[in-house]
This record gives sequence, C-alpha cells and structure tokens, in this order.
Amino acid sequence: MPSSPAKVLVLGGTTEARALTRLMDAASIGGVLSLAGRVARPAPQSLPMRMGGFGGAEGLAAYIRSEGITHVVDGTHPFAAQMSRNAHAACLETGTPLLALTRAPWVAEAGDNWLLVPDMAGAVAALDRPAARVFLAVGRMHLAEFAAQPQHDYLLRLVDPPEGALPLPKAEAVIDRGPFTEEADLALMQRNGTQLVVSKNAGGSASVAKLRAARRLGVPVVMIDRPALPERAEAHSPEEVLRWLGHVTDLGV
Ligand SMILES: NC(=O)c1ccc[n+]([C@@H]2O[C@H](COP(=O)([O-])OP(=O)(O)OC[C@H]3O[C@@H](n4cnc5c(N)ncnc54)[C@H](OP(=O)(O)O)[C@@H]3O)[C@@H](O)[C@H]2O)c1
Repeated sequence: MPSSPAKVLVLGGTTEARALTRLMDAASIGGVLSLAGRVARPAPQSLPMRMGGFGGAEGLAAYIRSEGITHVVDGTHPFAAQMSRNAHAACLETGTPLLALTRAPWVAEAGDNWLLVPDMAGAVAALDRPAARVFLAVGRMHLAEFAAQPQHDYLLRLVDPPEGALPLPKAEAVIDRGPFTEEADLALMQRNGTQLVVSKNAGGSASVAKLRAARRLGVPVVMIDRPALPERAEAHSPEEVLRWLGHVTDLGV
C-alpha cells in the first residue's frame, strides 16, 4: 500500500522558516506554516498558513492529531523558547518526528565591544548607567522592561506602528522589517547618534547588519544570550530540513 503523503507543520516567524516553505512548495511537500500572529501583515508565504497560539503543549498535541501532522519543523526564533518547549513536549507525547531549524549564535569579532548578559533582565541591569542614546533592538514584547531605565533616549525598530503610547518616556520608533543592510543601519545609527546597542543573540543574516554597523562606528553592544532549550535534532539550513524529510532539493541531478 502506498504510504500517505507527508503533512509537515512548520512553526515559523523567521526568514529561514520562510525559505523552507518556498523549498517545500517547489518540491511539492505538503504542510502548514504556523505563525503566532504578532505581526499585523505577515510577509507572503508559500504554504497554507494558520495564525495564533495552539493553547500550550496540550493544544499543539491535539492539533497534531486532529490535522494528521506527520512531521514538525521548529523554525521559530531562538528566543521563542516557550513555543520550542511546547513543540518538544507535544512531539514527545504524540510520537511525531521533530526537527529544529536553527542558526549559530553570533560571535564577537575583532573590533567588537560586547558586554555579554544572560537574559533580558541582565540587559536592563546593564543599562543602569548615565543617560545615553540606545538602539534597543529587542523587539516589541520586551520594551516595558526597559522602563526601569528611563534616563536613556531609545531608538526602537518595530515591524508594526505601536498601537498605544510607547512604554518608554524617551523613545523614537522606526517602522521597518528585515532583512536589513549594513549601510542602512550605519546611516540609521549615525543619524540617531547611537552610543550603545542592545541586541538579542539571534544569529543568522537577517539582522546582523546592526552589529556590523556598531563595529564600524566603535559603538558597544549589550548582547543578550539565548534561552536554554530542550535537546532536539537540529538542521542548520532549509536544504538540510528537506533532506530530513526524505527529499533532495537539486532534483535535476
Ligand atoms: N522572540 C523573538 O525575539 C522573535 C523574533 C523574531 C520573530 N519571532 C517569532 O515571533 C513568534 C512569537 O515569538 P515569541 O518569542 O513571542 O514566542 P514564545 O514566547 O516562545 O511563544 C509564546 C506563545 O506564542 C504562541 N506562539 C509562538 N510562536 C508560534 C507559532 N509559530 N505558531 C503558533 N503559535 C505560536 C504559543 O502560544 P500557545 O502556547 O497558545 O500555543 C506560545 O506558547 C514566533 O513565531 C517567533 O518565531 C520571535
């Protein structure tokens, strides 16, 4: 009897997950892309899309069963730790193969001046210093935590315009979405007079530009380390994921 076709659940929200869905579409691998729904207008996607939380690990396990999901690819951002933990638990419970599409963390190079902190609270504590112009590149969800350091002038980069007042007394928001270029980030930081950058150690190419710009300008960076995640199988490129799914990308060879 022929085996039934794969139905892959891709947990997305990253440039890499989007690239994977394009490859899957080209290779006619069936699946669903899941997004949290944090962004008002998600970029166009190649696979059918669903939006919003599943209702914890239990909700995800129920979704996997009811939708007949055969494989789960965790392509979420390295800081989306709750979703990754839920995916791990739900796949264990349902016996569904799980692969994480991950990217290596950024590593300081010659000319970088990084202060390494373990988490967001560490970054807030590191800003306990005289007023400065700070490029706070941590995303929308964590801004309120920095209200504990109201003395700084913050430059924020957000995907969507803020709905209400920003939780920081002195803040300018630039609305833009990656990938970003080094020249544009250099110009942004020069115009702003940025004296300090706060960044999550996301890794990957889409948002590395600000670190290269900081290096060129001699601006120090508070670098936030990644949260700990459960051990799971990992792939480092969308092509590797496709091979795991039992396909080859260079079908002509
Ligand atoms: N954190 C970042 O710095 C960052 C940066 C860029 C992009 N993103 C993307 O933004 C999304 C949310 O990130 P987060 O840090 O808020 O995640 P998180 O803290 O790990 O997740 C919180 C809850 O949001 C829901 N969720 C998260 N990702 C989802 C997905 N892909 N599909 C469906 N539900 C999802 C889940 O709700 P339920 O428990 O109800 O299922 C999850 O428990 C992720 O897709 C991530 O890849 C995050």
